[in-house]
Amino acid sequence: MTAQVLDGKAIAADIRQSLQARISSMVANGERPPGLAVVLVGEDPASQVYVRNKARACQEVGFYSEVHRLARETAQPDLLALVDRLNADPRIDGILVQLPLPPQIDAEAVIERILPSKDVDGFHPYNVGRLALRLPRLRPCTPKGIMTMLARTGVPLEGLDAVIIGQSNIVGRPMALELLAARCTITVCHSRTRDLADKARGADILVAAIGRPAFVPGDWIKEGALVIDVGINRTADGGLVGDVDFAACAARAAWITPVPGGVGPMTIASLLENTCEARGWATS
Ligand code: GUN
Repeated sequence: MTAQVLDGKAIAADIRQSLQARISSMVANGERPPGLAVVLVGEDPASQVYVRNKARACQEVGFYSEVHRLARETAQPDLLALVDRLNADPRIDGILVQLPLPPQIDAEAVIERILPSKDVDGFHPYNVGRLALRLPRLRPCTPKGIMTMLARTGVPLEGLDAVIIGQSNIVGRPMALELLAARCTITVCHSRTRDLADKARGADILVAAIGRPAFVPGDWIKEGALVIDVGINRTADGGLVGDVDFAACAARAAWITPVPGGVGPMTIASLLENTCEARGWATS
């Protein structure tokens, strides 16, 4: 089998286009546009790129947006005070604090300080708990974007065996909750998992969120599987590669996401959708 490529870049462009049309007609009717505040602490190069892309996407669809760049040595009380100001700001519907944060800052305390109704990352325990209870409000952006892509394949997900490699709060855990809600059977693998290759080979849906270039070889892929590559790894020559060996895995999968142009743009599209939802505008 040769996989069909699941074109996240094109799907995300569709989503942005329909959001842009919606926002311009709402604004023409005198409505306030959705507002997103992005907070970046320090100069982590990857985070700078992500924040720049998020800000650009906001401008493209017509959001009100602010980027707050704080020094790496920012003290926790100063960051919490900024979150408090943004919580109280009526122009701001969504607040995103880019992770990772420097070591002097307790990321959990910052996430919990964001009003759950403005938590467009979906990382607040309130939103994670609601997702676990199948009562989702704001859903974590990367797993939400992956669910949107999986829906575009037209493959019924009910009853499929899903294997997720990675147990992070940002991707692995909420991905498991999303796929469980879609009535898949879930296996979450991590650094202590035994017989990882065997588990991967049983997957109808394989989600790789490891952070190691080309970690998943072709012979881990079940014939006809859906393969979702969450990895964004920079190579020595400045290129990007995912967590799966794309060519080898595409030879066996039915569907596969590329890197770049797969999950990454969908994460940003989901952030825009979440900000509209936080504004009180339904998106689906
Ligand atoms: N760092 C890597 N991915 C994300 C994300 O989706 N949201 C935030 N806030 N930080 C991240």
